[in-house]
Amino acid sequence: MNDQTPKTPTPEISQKLEQLRLTVQRASYAYYVLDAPTMEDGVYDRLYRELQELETQYPELISPDSPTQRVGEKPATQFESVRHNISLYSLENAFNMAELQAWDEKWRRFLGNWAAEDNNYICELKIDGSAIALTYHDGILVRGATRGDGVTGEDITQNIKTIRSIPLKLHLDNPPPVVEVRGEAFLYNRIFAEINQERQKNGEPLFANPRNAAAGTLRQLDSRIVAARHLDFFAYTLHLDSPNLHDHWDCLELLPKMGFKVNPNRQLCQSLLEVQQYFNTWETQRRELPYMTDGVVVKLNSLSLQKQLGETRKFPRWAIALKYPAEELPTKIISVTFQVGRTGALTPVAELEPIQLAGTTVKRATLHNQDRLTELDLHIGDTVIVRKAGEIIPEVVRVLPDLRPTGAKLVTMPTHCPECGETVVKTPPEAVTRCINSSCPAIVRGSIIHWCGRRALDINGIGEKLVQQLVETQLVRSVADLYHLNMDQLVALERQGQKSAQKILEAIAASKKQPWHRVLYGLGIRYVGEVNAELLAQNFPSCQSLAAASSAQIEGVYGIGAEIATSVYQWFQNPANISLCDRLEQSGLQLASVPSTALKSTPQAQPFAGKTFVLTGTLPTLTREEAKSIIEKAGGKVTNSVTQKVDYLLLGDKPGSKLAKAQNLGIAELSELELLEMAK
Ligand code: IVH
Repeated sequence: MNDQTPKTPTPEISQKLEQLRLTVQRASYAYYVLDAPTMEDGVYDRLYRELQELETQYPELISPDSPTQRVGEKPATQFESVRHNISLYSLENAFNMAELQAWDEKWRRFLGNWAAEDNNYICELKIDGSAIALTYHDGILVRGATRGDGVTGEDITQNIKTIRSIPLKLHLDNPPPVVEVRGEAFLYNRIFAEINQERQKNGEPLFANPRNAAAGTLRQLDSRIVAARHLDFFAYTLHLDSPNLHDHWDCLELLPKMGFKVNPNRQLCQSLLEVQQYFNTWETQRRELPYMTDGVVVKLNSLSLQKQLGETRKFPRWAIALKYPAEELPTKIISVTFQVGRTGALTPVAELEPIQLAGTTVKRATLHNQDRLTELDLHIGDTVIVRKAGEIIPEVVRVLPDLRPTGAKLVTMPTHCPECGETVVKTPPEAVTRCINSSCPAIVRGSIIHWCGRRALDINGIGEKLVQQLVETQLVRSVADLYHLNMDQLVALERQGQKSAQKILEAIAASKKQPWHRVLYGLGIRYVGEVNAELLAQNFPSCQSLAAASSAQIEGVYGIGAEIATSVYQWFQNPANISLCDRLEQSGLQLASVPSTALKSTPQAQPFAGKTFVLTGTLPTLTREEAKSIIEKAGGKVTNSVTQKVDYLLLGDKPGSKLAKAQNLGIAELSELELLEMAK
């Protein structure tokens, strides 16, 4: 089964593979398009794996529409620009019923017939995503492209293939030579919020709305990142010459039969009054949907009317977007607080007089950074317009300066960190102000929460409250301290029972088995997300090899850019970080992809061979045991008594009588930092 050498397929193998592929495709369609799973996850995974294994053995049988071909193995370097076969038009907007009425009169006038034949309208929700164009040749998806300027877009086929609800092969027995399908790729609200939380944690600018986030995701060079964001797709246009297609409704009925997902909330309306009712109903109902909508699209149903009306340079004359009003309201700024994230980034947050916006109570809004504060010229007590961008993260759009109370105080970023009191820094052109004190409680708390996260070391049971206590009591000053916690310490904390403490200790112990790429992700190095951590871990199989790499060597990894490489390189130049890695390794974490036994068997440098050490005082980051283990690993010996045979005194804070003795004998003194440098 594990034989990876390509073999020549027999007809039975080809048939088996085809059956397997069909079964997996059907199950995937039922799950992703119909939302009605027909197979247990475990069974699906088994069959998928079997298909993958067969295809590895018989690579010539891999077809581009195989379910295994959705995620590319290598990131793209850039996207090619492609000309659309049929232009992608945008939509004219109407902001009220009068404008809708005006559009209706306009198209009737264009036809030269005021009392045009009875016409139906199709109303659809306007999904807040990114338009994409799909091209199928003989039923197989050959190209997926962004809208671009409507005439030329970018070829993002590899990314589009990751969207499970887009069929790689049309469900048609005799597919026409060319079919074009257009629709909206979008992100679910939950994922949009997660992406922004992650960006906030990493000190990166937030996406203003799901549309930008979806467009940004589609243009990611690495299709694995795209796959991880679970984009979805609603088809809304079908370009196919067929005598059976008379109106748009027919197209919307045929698309699901071809394997596409069409938004179910569409409606055929016979008058503008019905359109208005649809619009009103969805104004509130849309809040229940798990994705964003920003209006309603009204389309003429008859394809022949559509054809007669045609398009202007930008818009079809036969459709219009009826937009919901922006969710913006005025309120007052009570105060501004500053949150410190894991990377030390300070985010100003407006504390507001509570208002009801888009169905929720808004009390706080992000002010992003100093540049934004300057732009707004924000003062305490100001009346501001607050918007729920993409209806999720409220933000301050602008200030109404006429309503400013006299003597109001201008809001600026603090000069000192609100958490630790250290001076903060802002290095232009970066817009972000940062606390750079690595012992700042906010940074420590953030780094521990990140370390324990599901995608990092996956330590269950350590929530924000517990982290707060662990940091406050100084039991934990870095993630390495987690591995020295004991039962007594945990139970002594507020609201911590014996049982839950036991579970936490078990979860901490279990995390030692997590692979090297997760540890690397958990370290929280800037720009090293899950995918980059995996790429780096594949290319640098141990922490040692990554720490020893130059910036250029790191950038040499396919998919790693200059900014990431510099960030990783700089992180490993900080001795405190090296010491952190050493401590983690000593605690038994996996800082290499190869089993530690294999590592041990490779000969290692022994810089302390034949040298004897004595320890005195408290070291800044290492425990005595850890220091001892570092020395011994590097070939040295540790003794307790100061004699002439001793080569070095490892000197910590508040040393004992050993210091005077060592000085009398002229024994060299070493700090923890020097020890770590030498041990490298
Ligand atoms: S029809 C020629 N239908 O809205 C037809 N567009 O503001 C043009 N959109 O670029 C598109 N939901 O990305 C259509 N149900 C829907 C839509 C929709 C969202 C987007 C689409 C378009 C943009 C125009």
